[in-house]
Amino acid sequence: MAEVPMLEMKGITKRFPGVLANDRVDFDLYAGEVHTLLGENGAGKSTLMKILYGLYQADEGKILLNGRPVEIASPTSAIEHNIGMIHQHFMLVDTLTVAENVALGLPSSRGVLTDLDAVSEKIVALGKQYGLEIDPAATVWQLAVGQKQRVEIIKALYRVARLLILDEPTAVLTPQEVEQLFATLHQMTADGRGLIFISHKLHEVLALSDRITVLRHGRVTGNTTTEGATRSSLASMMVGREVKLAPDKPETEVGPAALEISGLRVIGDRGNVVIDDLDLEVHTGEILGIAGVSGNGQRELAETIAGLRQAESGSIVIAGSDVTNQTPAGVRSAGLAYVPEGRMKDGSIGPFTVAENLLLIDHNSKEFLDAGLLNFEAIRKHSQSLVDEFAVKTPSLDTPVRSLSGGNIQKLILARELSGTPNVLVASQPTRGVDIGAAEYIHIRLIEQRDQSTAILMISEDLDEIFGLSDRVAVMYEGKIMGIVDPKTVGREDVGLMMAGVSQEGRSAPGA
Ligand SMILES: Nc1ncnc2c1ncn2[C@@H]1O[C@H](COP(=O)(O)OP(=O)(O)OP(=O)(O)O)[C@@H](O)[C@H]1O
Ligand SMILES: [Mg+2]
Repeated sequence: MAEVPMLEMKGITKRFPGVLANDRVDFDLYAGEVHTLLGENGAGKSTLMKILYGLYQADEGKILLNGRPVEIASPTSAIEHNIGMIHQHFMLVDTLTVAENVALGLPSSRGVLTDLDAVSEKIVALGKQYGLEIDPAATVWQLAVGQKQRVEIIKALYRVARLLILDEPTAVLTPQEVEQLFATLHQMTADGRGLIFISHKLHEVLALSDRITVLRHGRVTGNTTTEGATRSSLASMMVGREVKLAPDKPETEVGPAALEISGLRVIGDRGNVVIDDLDLEVHTGEILGIAGVSGNGQRELAETIAGLRQAESGSIVIAGSDVTNQTPAGVRSAGLAYVPEGRMKDGSIGPFTVAENLLLIDHNSKEFLDAGLLNFEAIRKHSQSLVDEFAVKTPSLDTPVRSLSGGNIQKLILARELSGTPNVLVASQPTRGVDIGAAEYIHIRLIEQRDQSTAILMISEDLDEIFGLSDRVAVMYEGKIMGIVDPKTVGREDVGLMMAGVSQEGRSAPGA
């Protein structure tokens, strides 16, 4: 390790209206290491990194690069200092190609127009060097999330980033994509780059980091090297108490089928068959977990059930009523609650307040109407109790949702969707992006809902979550159910093989 850290942040303080987001934070980074920032939702991780990247200005404190004090007034100035940032939410323009996205904002090499051919060549070269292969001519909306992530990294590397900030880069990646990403990151540190990593997944933090700094309520509350740290030691450092990493799950009575899907066929965005003659039943009082590598039709399945996507053929029945190709509102009134995968896009409205977002589905409920008018007092009470119950960290009910931290937006949508007693709950990646303490609470809530006779279809790429919660596990591969297994008797390796398209009997599936 070099003697002088490549980065020192000293005494950083940042206030937002009603929030002390960073409170005299010290943080440093040496060339060639991965230093992880760990902390609950709203702890101030993204804020600290946005200050380093010039998106926010600190109220107090200073930043030194290679021992010299610097002002980072904007992302342009951060880029000039060789700092790159991969954001918590993708910043790509969907309608442009990979090369165009990488070229965006680059100083032009040929007058007004950037030379896209030269950009494409360099993208291919960087891709080879770091195992980030991607077609520079592909349009971004056509890419899978893992590929979009690659584009973000290439974009940062293209600008010669020596210091790379990765704010939850793995939240949307499959286990295989994470492995690939980590190989790339190891190569980058071997080249002498410094990486700042943010993740709520403790096994990833342990696998990747050299050092870990814990933030709580904007303050540094702990430092450790990875050596000697364990998942539970990190969890309790973060939350300040012991955390149950696996939920308690009592046995329940399984009732009749509340969600019945038969012969479902769905065409995807690229015109191909993404769900192929699929049959599935979920019973009241059970959690059916859908395991699978993302991109195998899970998202389309959830969207089709929720009425957000057309079924080509087949039928979907909720609590006895046929809801095939009904409007989202129609499906809701049949008793569906839906936690979408893309919560920023589909689940919330950024400029609306916390209270308004909590009300999005409930505005016709009698509880909130008084002689036909909205009863604001009842609404506020209801909203406040949800915010408290789910520990959504927000300065007030009137704060616009877009100024909440990523994980707190997730908690807000979960609070809304888990607050009723639906017949069927479809939950996609229910704990993606939420901190350990919140994940523990969401798991408890899912089990409670199951025990109150909701049929739960849970889609997750997290095998710990699948095995911890599911009563039955269905494995989805290329738009089909490869098999349904009992998680008490079938192991992870078998499920992992099925996820890769190898059927239960060990035969290779068609197309595998
Ligand atoms: N632009 C903003 N305006 C107002 N408040 C903000 C803004 N950005 C962040 N905050 C607040 O600052 C606090 C820290 O947020 P930050 O996004 O840094 O958390 P985080 O640690 O990244 O959390 P997560 O794990 O959920 O991403 C939160 O209370 C958040 O609501
Ligand atoms: Mg964040």
